Amino acid sequence: MRVLGIETSCDETGIAVFDTHKGLLAHALHSQVKMHAAFGGVVPELASRDHIRRIIPLLEDVLAEAGLSRSAIDGVAYTAGPGLIGALLVGVAVGRGLAYGWGVPAVGVHHMEAHLLAPMLEAEAPGFPFIALLVSGGHTLLVTVTAPGDYEVLGESLDDAAGEAFDKTAKLLGLGYPGGPALSALATSGRPDRFQFPRPMTDRPGLDFSFSGLKTFAVNTFQAVGDDQQSKADIARAFIDAVVDTLLIKCQRAMQETGINTLVAAGGVSANQQLRRGLQKLSRDVGGRVYFPRPEFCTDNGAMIAYAGSIKLQAGESQPLSFRAKPRWPMKEIKGASEK
Ligand code: KG4
Ligand code: ZN
Repeated sequence: MRVLGIETSCDETGIAVFDTHKGLLAHALHSQVKMHAAFGGVVPELASRDHIRRIIPLLEDVLAEAGLSRSAIDGVAYTAGPGLIGALLVGVAVGRGLAYGWGVPAVGVHHMEAHLLAPMLEAEAPGFPFIALLVSGGHTLLVTVTAPGDYEVLGESLDDAAGEAFDKTAKLLGLGYPGGPALSALATSGRPDRFQFPRPMTDRPGLDFSFSGLKTFAVNTFQAVGDDQQSKADIARAFIDAVVDTLLIKCQRAMQETGINTLVAAGGVSANQQLRRGLQKLSRDVGGRVYFPRPEFCTDNGAMIAYAGSIKLQAGESQPLSFRAKPRWPMKEIKGASEK
């Protein structure tokens, strides 16, 4: 079965074709980062309009790259939520329209479910069950994944997501949007022992997260020390050390509580090298293994949507034309998911 995947939940238009026998046939991405950078963050209306401009040319590129005609597509998967409503609607309308015109089934995919399945696209894919640490711009989640579609949400962020905290701290330090990669680069010249930031919610039981206090800590530190380059780098370093440490403590706790020692990290922040190294060390220490998507599939992409959709379509799942985009869609409300 060959599935077309469409991702338009935020500021990236992603298109891919996944073949359930041959794997990923082709994928393409258009990032809107340059367009939004001038505004210091994503402007939803500009995002929707750009998705409209890009989506069909990208689709044509991907079909050409895969050497496929339209009639070779057996199903369409699109991100149905969560995300920006206008941006989502572009992918939903195009996906549903193509499926209707081609006479094939279409299925809406949960964006975070697609992130957590992204490592399955790699040659060395994790076996089930595993614990997924999902760290993106909008969500931070710890999930037990027993099988595709069988999820238990163990913990989540009560306020800012990890990526959001990266972006806000980067903005404070005068770095551009998106802040994660720029903040990580600045932190490499930061000294680890100058500032000590808290490790939020690690002093009590549970697997939920809270990152908004770290952002406030960064603001207060910045105001107290001034804005010379070394101080900024030291703040970046202290911030990232705190985020990474906090994520590692919660991952270790999740592994202890569940007895599962296979970890998956996915979502934009999982591209962070310091986090990847920390998770690798943690996994070695507990005799387990950690799996990541390749860096380009950590951030938003069409390949993970095509893959997640292929599993649903193969299981016979599809939705009627009336299916809508869901800007808010808690992961525990996915069919087959539960909350601890
Ligand atoms: O998964 P994603 O592409 O989009 C959402 O679903 O939100 O994640 C985007 C987030 C942004 O907050 C961005 O700053 C962060 O991932 N990010 C990083 C890195 N690359 C992207 N954060 C830390 N280090 C990175 N290398
Ligand atoms: Zn994402």
